[in-house]
Amino acid sequence: MRQGITILGSTGSIGVNTLDVVARHPERFEVFALSAASRTDLLFEQCQRFEPAHAVMSDPGAARDLDARLRDAGLKTRVLSGADALERIASDERVAVVMAAIVGAAGLPACLAAARAGKRLLLANKEALVVGGEVFLTAVREGGAKLLPIDSEHSAIFQCLPDDPLTWSSRVEKIILTASGGPFRQRDLSTLHEVTVEQACKHPNWVMGRKISVDSATMMNKALEVIEARYLFGMRPHQIEVVIHPQSIIHSFVQYHDTSVVAQMGTPDMRVPIAYGLSWPERVDSGARALDFRALPAMTFEAPDPQRFPGLQLAWQVLDGPTGGTAVLNAANEVAVQAFLDHRIRFDQIHAVNRDALEGWSAPVVSGLADLLDIDARARDRAHALVQRIARA
Ligand SMILES: NC(=O)c1ccc[n+]([C@@H]2O[C@H](COP(=O)([O-])OP(=O)(O)OC[C@H]3O[C@@H](n4cnc5c(N)ncnc54)[C@H](OP(=O)(O)O)[C@@H]3O)[C@@H](O)[C@H]2O)c1
Repeated sequence: MRQGITILGSTGSIGVNTLDVVARHPERFEVFALSAASRTDLLFEQCQRFEPAHAVMSDPGAARDLDARLRDAGLKTRVLSGADALERIASDERVAVVMAAIVGAAGLPACLAAARAGKRLLLANKEALVVGGEVFLTAVREGGAKLLPIDSEHSAIFQCLPDDPLTWSSRVEKIILTASGGPFRQRDLSTLHEVTVEQACKHPNWVMGRKISVDSATMMNKALEVIEARYLFGMRPHQIEVVIHPQSIIHSFVQYHDTSVVAQMGTPDMRVPIAYGLSWPERVDSGARALDFRALPAMTFEAPDPQRFPGLQLAWQVLDGPTGGTAVLNAANEVAVQAFLDHRIRFDQIHAVNRDALEGWSAPVVSGLADLLDIDARARDRAHALVQRIARA
């Protein structure tokens, strides 16, 4: 029987790649719902091709526009908008699989809904786990959901770990996340203040959305991934390391107590971890090109330079600090990256916003989504004030 799938953020880079893999396996999957924030044209095309039961647009005006176009085209897809629409399509009983591919903390409520409803939850939206932390994991446990990583590094770690999670802590010494180092790995440090939005969004190995591209350039993406790894794999913060591997061939490593290291490799193509998440524990065609070891460039590794990538260290700082710090860091970073994309602050000022937003943070009680949203809102206010101060200076 075909499985119903909801793709949250279907018009983004991960969403489009997911639909590419899904289209290769029409005997396995039936698209139940798609969603976007405001990109009507692409969502309309996707609805024409996949004929989902539902399409959600966060922007109400865009939702009305999409609805009219779908009706003109004679399609039966029902368009939803409003606060709980994403949660509804993530938890509907006709859905078995949910791809969480919205960018940022905006995806958290729908992820929690999918987790509570016991779905196979494919997590690309790392910010949701960085903000949700233990609340997210509790929802997964209590709802009986299966949480599978889509970030290529975390998919790699998952593939290198033993099948039984109960054996991880007794066997694993550490996990090592690889990082490409982004577009500015070798750029003269004294010119980082001149970085343009276009330069920051042009990743050497991957084609991705703008927010994650900027995060890759600052290596805040890797900081978020360190936090994500801590929650996904239950490692202690000091068991997580980062190494720069500019060729993006090895997607991450697990080192065992006997010093043996297991790595996962492949071409840099997000359809591989997406296909694995969709088919786990089986393997299906992803559409990606296989590696040709006779033609590969030399693989190199280097330590991240803390002067060039000061944001990376913030991951361990918040993991060792008061509760809620990971949510504060994420909120500050979302505000700072948007301010950079809007030309309000410079590339090299993103870190100052993130660092200063964390200053003086003291642990609140965090028992559910409302507490998390409150932390997120307060941290955003603080980060906006920091951006304003920098922009005025
Ligand atoms: N791209 C990659 O290769 C990659 C790799 C690993 C992990 N990830 C993670 O996957 C997630 C998505 O990344 P991406 O590169 O695919 O991002 P993207 O290309 O910017 O796409 C984001 C998607 O989310 C929608 N969206 C944006 N803001 C929203 C909001 N406030 N409410 C509801 N929907 C919203 C967008 O709709 P519109 O199109 O209408 O704006 C789009 O469908 C991120 O968390 C990223 O860190 C991405």
